[in-house]
Amino acid sequence: MKTININIPNKEYKVHINNGLLFDIDKYIDVFREIVIVTDDFIPKQYLKVLKSKIANPLIFEVPMGESSKSIDIAYQIINEMIESKISRGALIIALGGGVIGDLTGFIASIYMRGIDFIQIPTTLLSQIDSSVGGKVGINSDNMKNAIGAFYQPKVVLIDPETLNTLSEKEFNNGMAEMIKYGLIADKSLFYDILEKDIHENIEYFISKCVEIKRDIVIKDELDTGIRQILNFGHTIGHALEQDSNYELLHGEAVSIGMYLMSDGFSYQKDLVQILNKYSLPYNHDYDKETIFNYIKTDKKVINNKLNIILIKEIGNGFIKTININEIKGYLR
Ligand code: GLY
Repeated sequence: MKTININIPNKEYKVHINNGLLFDIDKYIDVFREIVIVTDDFIPKQYLKVLKSKIANPLIFEVPMGESSKSIDIAYQIINEMIESKISRGALIIALGGGVIGDLTGFIASIYMRGIDFIQIPTTLLSQIDSSVGGKVGINSDNMKNAIGAFYQPKVVLIDPETLNTLSEKEFNNGMAEMIKYGLIADKSLFYDILEKDIHENIEYFISKCVEIKRDIVIKDELDTGIRQILNFGHTIGHALEQDSNYELLHGEAVSIGMYLMSDGFSYQKDLVQILNKYSLPYNHDYDKETIFNYIKTDKKVINNKLNIILIKEIGNGFIKTININEIKGYLR
């Protein structure tokens, strides 16, 4: 069992990481309070069953799996049903699932009656090491990912690494892309551990390492105006590719291609290729440069035609560079 304190001033919370934690949920939350659970129709039924057996009378919403559930229609539908069910401001809302569920549920929590408590129970590698920590919540507009949202920290994050056992290899590797990113931007030894060691045998260690790196960055810049942007390595091009593929490319796959494109001309690129190959992550992809550039132009990170990109000096050492929006074309090959 590992506990990491996310010590954001006035919004401190803990991330507990423990095998089998789901079965001990009553040790971490008051199961007798008013509770709403949001999950999706793809998450193995046993997880919801365990929660239902421990929590008195939760109101449950099961949304369709996938990015299309991060929509204003679904958020509005859930909010209306919560109002009809007389869910009060004293309620707790639980996100049980991956990044989509965490983002959607956190967004609802941030606006329902001007904000109610929420907790994250992430069940995918990507959400365990990245999206469940740091308080970014939100939904997509018709043509912009995460266009509508807030910074709204959970009360606690409960990670049961055993939930990863039911992930497909493709979904697991989707999360590995973000783990590789942490190594590249902040921790050389993590990068080479990912390359050389057996991830599954040491999963608790790898999850904690990533959460600690994210914690160290987020506590310095909760609102993403400075150093937190370093977490976006590979993401500007990645988000554009993800949208262009209509979300057929998974987030981690799109970020892998984005990281590769941003590594051009740097000596670490060969190690990046080796590590992406180990986790069957893509780095070559056919795309239309002008279309991808048009997506990037509408990215919310572009301000006055300027964009902060992240580059890696050497493995473990990322930095932010401000460029004119047109300069991103030089990375699209
Ligand atoms: N996933 C990037 C961030 O939380 O800032």
